[in-house]
Amino acid sequence: MSLHPVGIIGTGKYVPERILTNKELEAMVETNDEWIVTRTGIKERRLASAEEATSDLALHASLKAIAAAGLTAEDIDLIVVATITPDMFFPSTACLLQEKLGAKKAAAFDLSAACSGFIYGLATGSSMVASGMYKNVLVVGAETLSRITDYTDRNTCILFGDGAGAVVLGRVEEGRGFQSFELGADGSGGELLKVSGGGSRIPATAESIETKQHFIHMAGNDVFKFAVRIMGGAAEEALVKAGLTKDDIDLLVPHQANIRIIQSALNRLDLSADKAMINLDKYGNMSSASIPVALAEAVEQGRVSEGDRLVLVGFGGGLTWGASVLVW
Ligand code: UT7
Repeated sequence: MSLHPVGIIGTGKYVPERILTNKELEAMVETNDEWIVTRTGIKERRLASAEEATSDLALHASLKAIAAAGLTAEDIDLIVVATITPDMFFPSTACLLQEKLGAKKAAAFDLSAACSGFIYGLATGSSMVASGMYKNVLVVGAETLSRITDYTDRNTCILFGDGAGAVVLGRVEEGRGFQSFELGADGSGGELLKVSGGGSRIPATAESIETKQHFIHMAGNDVFKFAVRIMGGAAEEALVKAGLTKDDIDLLVPHQANIRIIQSALNRLDLSADKAMINLDKYGNMSSASIPVALAEAVEQGRVSEGDRLVLVGFGGGLTWGASVLVW
């Protein structure tokens, strides 16, 4: 696929300290722990403190990933931050992160593909390493979804959490690293999952705030159906492109939106639950941060060994989806 084989040479994650439990949500909206656990698999999620913005979460995860790669911030040539909750419109969160890291040599930009953003970021960053344009690329998925979540809306507030995951991409041995990418989008489903206020269509006004347009709005059931169809489908496409089959998968690292969505992907791929990295019980859905945090935890827990074949797969607003096959 590439001039230079490219892989992940360091991983890192950070989640804020504050835990929001299902029990606490029971006091906020008409819901209960049993409903949340059986319908989603989520038990708790993390919330950023008032002082923490997305770039702060990204900083902690990035420092770990850079150290794990045996590099310093000055070795990073490019920073890509996938996020739907940037610190501000501009400068980009990637530029704010570049400054915090002291990554003086790095170019930096943000990428918007919602929960698929990290996979889109891997595809972008790895292409640039493969082409020889850059040597070390930092790809981050970081979100403070709590800032765009309506804690009076039980359809959404039980799902989301804050966190950040980061990886460093670099050259690896022949036969290792990324084997394929499968990216997709269907803008016709954009209405299903959105924050419509605050942009150029609906600028921030007293009325836009009054009508809660700065919060996430989601047609949960429609997104669920899309997710069930696309998770298995995108993973299968990525496997075909890599010349592999579902029997070759050592570990699936899926977007952590709902345990029932992950289970349906496992069924479609004929995989047992122990072949998937699942941590949504602790963190909920962290959008672009879910996959890199799950990957960093899989590495921490010793669940990934050299030569293992991993499938990363996600879906989200846009609508978007992305999958990648890589040899560790
Ligand atoms: O990263 C991508 C972002 N989003 C997603 O991946 C979300 C995908 N969707 C989902 O995960 C699920 O659709 C949800 C977890 C959001 C909802 O689960 P569901 O099984 O699709 O439930 P539903 O929306 O069909 O609602 C079933 C019932 C409804 O009551 P009625 O109309 O049957 O009386 C809801 O009002 O459950 C009710 N309900 C709740 N009950 C207690 C909805 N939310 C809650 C709640 N607690 N938090």
